[in-house]
Amino acid sequence: MHFQSFLSKNPLVLAPLAGYTDLAFRLLCRETGAGICVTEMISCHGLIYGQKNTLVLLNSAPEDRPLGVQLFGADPEAMGRAAALINPKQADFIDINMGCPVRKVTRKGAGSALMKNPKLAAEIITAVVRQAAMPVTVKFRSGWTQDAITAPDFARMAEQAGAAAVTVHGRTWSQGFSGSADWNVIKAVKQAVSIPVIGNGDILSYQDSIAMRNETGCDGVMIGRGSLGNPWVFSPSGRPATLSGRMPVLRRHLELAREYLPAEKMLFRIKNHLARYLAGLPGASRMRQDIMAASDLTTLWEYMETLQAKA
Ligand SMILES: Cc1cc2nc3c(=O)[nH]c(=O)nc-3n(C[C@H](O)[C@H](O)[C@H](O)COP(=O)(O)O)c2cc1C
Repeated sequence: MHFQSFLSKNPLVLAPLAGYTDLAFRLLCRETGAGICVTEMISCHGLIYGQKNTLVLLNSAPEDRPLGVQLFGADPEAMGRAAALINPKQADFIDINMGCPVRKVTRKGAGSALMKNPKLAAEIITAVVRQAAMPVTVKFRSGWTQDAITAPDFARMAEQAGAAAVTVHGRTWSQGFSGSADWNVIKAVKQAVSIPVIGNGDILSYQDSIAMRNETGCDGVMIGRGSLGNPWVFSPSGRPATLSGRMPVLRRHLELAREYLPAEKMLFRIKNHLARYLAGLPGASRMRQDIMAASDLTTLWEYMETLQAKA
C-alpha cells in the first residue's frame, strides 16, 4: 500500500523508542489513538545473524498494523540483506535510523553519523529500497550541528534514493535531546520534497500535533517521549486528571504485557511504564515506590487491584 494512505487514515505515529515501544505499548497506543507504530531500532547485523535478542524486537500481532520495522547500521550491503529478511506479513514498511545520537551507534557510523556522510546514507537507502518488499522511510535530524542544518538537502537525497517518506526530528545531533525542536526545519523539509513528511519533536498533546501540522504543513506527526506515561497523547481529551480515570489504561498495559511480552523478563520495563502513568497525582511517589518494589508480575497485578479499589 502507498505510504501516504496510512497517514491519510491517521497521521499520528508512535516514535521508535528503544526500551519502550514493544508490542504491548504499541498495541496500547493504537487503542488510545495512534495510527502508525514503529518498532524499537533493530541492528541489521543482529537480524542477519538471527540473534535471539534482536528477533524478539520483531514480535508483532495482527492488530499491530500498520507497522514499521526500524533498522540501523552503516553498511549498505548488510542493511540490504537485513531488509530482505523482513516479510511483508510482519510489517508494512522499513524505517532507516539516521537520527540516533547515542555514541554506541554513531561510533560505528550509523544513526545520526550518517548525516555527516550523505553519500553513504544514499547508498544505504538505495540498497534497502532495492532489497525490501515494502516501502522504505528514513528518519533523521535537522543536521549534525547548528551551523549545518542539512535536513532539506538530506530529505531530497532520500527522496532521490527511493524513500517513500521521511521523518525529521527538529534537533541537531549536537543538541542531543536538549533545547527545543525547531519546527521551521520541518517546514523547510516539507517544502523541499514531494514525498510525505512526518514531523517530530516535543509533541506533548494532541493539540500540539495539530499545531505542528498547521505550522509546518507536515503530513504526519510522530510522538516519542510525550507518549511515555501518557498514551492519551494520541486522543483529543488527553490524560485524565484522576487515578480512577487513568486506571483502565494502567490495567490494560499490564494485561497486554502479560499476553504479549516475556513479562517476567521485562518486569523492570513494565514497572517503569506503569510508574510513569502516575505523574502529577497525589501520592504518586509512594505509589511509584510500591510499583518498583514488586518482585514479580503477580505482586504487581495484585497491587494494581488494590489501587483500583482505592481509585
Ligand atoms: C528513550 C529513547 C529511545 C529512543 N529510541 C529511538 C530509536 O530506537 N530509534 C529512533 O529512530 N529514535 C529513537 N529515539 C528518538 C525518538 O524517536 C524521537 O525522535 C525523539 O525522542 C524526539 O521526539 P519526542 O520529542 O516526541 O520525544 C529515542 C528517544 C528516546 C528518548
